Amino acid sequence: MRNLANKNIQKMKSYSPPLEGRRNFEGRLLDFNEKTVPPSKNVLKKLRELIDSDQIQLYPEYDDLCGKIATYSGVKKDQIMITNGSDQGIDLIFRTYTEKGDKVIIPSPSFAMFYQCSRVIGNKLGMPVYNEDGSFPTDKVIKSIKTGVRLVVICNPNNPTGTAVELEDIEEIVKKALRFSAIVYVDEAYFEFCKITAIGLIDKYPNLIITRTFSKAFGLASLRIGYSISSSTNIAEMLKVRGPYDMNMPAVVAAQAVLDDLESLNEYINEVMNKAKPMVEEFFRKNNIEFYPSRANFLLFKMQKSSLLVEKLRSLGFLTRLREGKRIDGTIRVTIGTVNQMKKFINQFKNA
Ligand SMILES: Cc1ncc(COP(=O)(O)O)c(C=O)c1O
Repeated sequence: MRNLANKNIQKMKSYSPPLEGRRNFEGRLLDFNEKTVPPSKNVLKKLRELIDSDQIQLYPEYDDLCGKIATYSGVKKDQIMITNGSDQGIDLIFRTYTEKGDKVIIPSPSFAMFYQCSRVIGNKLGMPVYNEDGSFPTDKVIKSIKTGVRLVVICNPNNPTGTAVELEDIEEIVKKALRFSAIVYVDEAYFEFCKITAIGLIDKYPNLIITRTFSKAFGLASLRIGYSISSSTNIAEMLKVRGPYDMNMPAVVAAQAVLDDLESLNEYINEVMNKAKPMVEEFFRKNNIEFYPSRANFLLFKMQKSSLLVEKLRSLGFLTRLREGKRIDGTIRVTIGTVNQMKKFINQFKNA
């Protein structure tokens, strides 16, 4: 039988990041920007209590978690939608606000899921290129917002460059997009590390949507939980598209537990951003290794023979991620973990 999938799907490739075998890798995983230490004992205790509660047969409930997220984010509960990872939030934004043939702006290079979700719908993609120094191409993005544009994506800070956009630039983009009735979507997956947020603009602009995740600083990547923030109207629309039980109860319980322990979150962020990252940056500088100015828990650096280096680092016990695309061919992305972990990374890098 001929392939019956939609034509645009047939033309696509699946997004298959190199995940397999990582859990058995004997070494340090610095390739997916995850937290590099497990969640606290209290999170694990709450998960065990759930398992022992004889409630696994019940459908999950979300109200308490949405309330906690609203408090954490400083918005109202009806401005929050939890999702199965922020990846699901991305998908819901594209499905709720764009149709086949609509113009969508995704500054590039950026996170693969944006392109994937856009191609599933069959949007017309505009991809203004990031500036040479990795800074966000604000002027190009503002110029590209015209009639027919339905959605503009801002990844802040950007994966894979780690570079951030200032709030004033975001506001300019949101204002221009509003004139053309386009949505601006800001991905804040690394907000906890970067601290820049567009949340303060949510009540001012009805065309702004933010996604965040528990996969990075909070350390719950395997459980798949994230959330979106927007006006209550936008949230109500996207909730029509999301399934009623898409997030599982272990994820909900763990997310509540990490929100109850912001002290350990802050300790980790402080160690990564104020101690370990400056140490790696210093090492790169001393060795004339160019890197982008990152506001997240990872650094993208440039090397000759980058694929060889990634392999060498793997053999020395460190997984890193080779990145390619316009502007970033021959770069490697490394997740920043604790000071001890990064000292070991630096030592092995010297041997690579
Ligand atoms: C910029 C960005 N957005 C979203 C995600 C997806 O995160 P998750 O689906 O685990 O919440 C990632 C993960 O790497 C990311 O880098």
